Amino acid sequence: MHLLTIVGARPQFIKAAMLSKAASRRPRLKENILHTGQHYDAAMSQVFFDQMAIPRPSKNLNVGSGSHGAATGAMLAGIEEYILETKPDMVLVHGDTNSTLAGALAAAKLHVPVAHVEAGLRSFNRRMPEEVNRVLTDHISDLLFCPTQAAVDNLAKEGVTHGVHVTGDVMYDAALFFGEQARTSSSILQDLGLEENRYFLATVHRAENTDDPKRLAGILQGLGDLAQEASMPLVLPLHPRTKKQIGLFGLEDLASRLAMIDPVSFLDMVRLESTARAICTDSGGVQKEGFFHGVPVVTLRDETEWIETVASGWNTLVGANSQHIVEAGLQAAPGKSMDAYGQGNAAQVMVDLLLAWNEKSTPGHGEEA
Ligand code: UD1
Ligand code: UDP
Repeated sequence: MHLLTIVGARPQFIKAAMLSKAASRRPRLKENILHTGQHYDAAMSQVFFDQMAIPRPSKNLNVGSGSHGAATGAMLAGIEEYILETKPDMVLVHGDTNSTLAGALAAAKLHVPVAHVEAGLRSFNRRMPEEVNRVLTDHISDLLFCPTQAAVDNLAKEGVTHGVHVTGDVMYDAALFFGEQARTSSSILQDLGLEENRYFLATVHRAENTDDPKRLAGILQGLGDLAQEASMPLVLPLHPRTKKQIGLFGLEDLASRLAMIDPVSFLDMVRLESTARAICTDSGGVQKEGFFHGVPVVTLRDETEWIETVASGWNTLVGANSQHIVEAGLQAAPGKSMDAYGQGNAAQVMVDLLLAWNEKSTPGHGEEA
């Protein structure tokens, strides 16, 4: 089976690392990776390929940044050309970025089946570009790999029931696989002079927060006040989008109370997450990683797709209100145990489903391994 995996943005490299490891153990599955070039800074892309031993993409479209239409359109054209050239049996897309939608759409129009990792997630906020991307992708996918039962239920409400599977969350696989490695090999705590449980960690990059000066100012104010009230540093690995917007809106003074650093590698991030006092974030992946590593999370959004983290008490939604950020950060405490995200073998389950699907659609080509 020839699988073409489309990646382009940071969280997709992490998911792809786990999928590619599982795929490489199956001789009948040949994977090619296409990188759209949506993320291109070394700290947003290459570092993940190097550290997580992700196979080198066979194609990089180098699309770079642009408006939604221009960037997605350029990806669509490039992916279409590559599918026509390489004729994959299936195209696999991850998550909810513009690269995901472009990959799914290019494949569906060429009648190449689509597998969607992280299918069925919903924020029910159509103003988020990610919500538009994932709804459209789910509706043109043939195999839908849902991390949770809630995702399956969301799809059923939209009439999507065919090809739907609960696989567990591949980000949980990554947390387990790289968690131990991070403890022994990352020196980020020493490098930054941090003491375990005596610092906060934050990430901010969502369009809804970074494109709105009031929301971005509220978040920076809240994070700075939290650090001050708790007398602990707050480390903020700064997404390039957020760095740009802080400059554009003249919010440097508010940001100066935070320990801002460049984006970090996955092993350094896992190390920082694992012993933070609490994590404040608007990231999808980081919300769950707090729970995976036993650290409470304060989510800088008004809603979340990862409802299990809130229901179990690990995650508190506070939006961009500075006072709420401070209160939730000071009170953050562990929640209840739960197993909503699977057993840590999601990548293996997905690879088995891909091969079973291929066998069914090409009779007589069973797997030998
Ligand atoms: C994208 C995804 C978002 C995901 C996030 C992960 C979409 C619509 N959004 O958001 O769902 O959570 O990635 O991080 O696909 N930039 C750089 N260097 C880079 C990458 C980006 O400087 O390597 C800057 C550019 O100014 C760019 C801006 O960041 O315009 C935004 O990048 P873009 O890829 O459009 O969206 P993200 O905010 O990264
Ligand atoms: N991450 C990282 N370095 C950083 C910030 C985040 O390795 O400096 C990892 C993080 O641990 C998580 C993933 O990137 O696994 C999340 O990516 P991001 O927040 O950019 O996107 P989202 O998950 O919101 O789509």
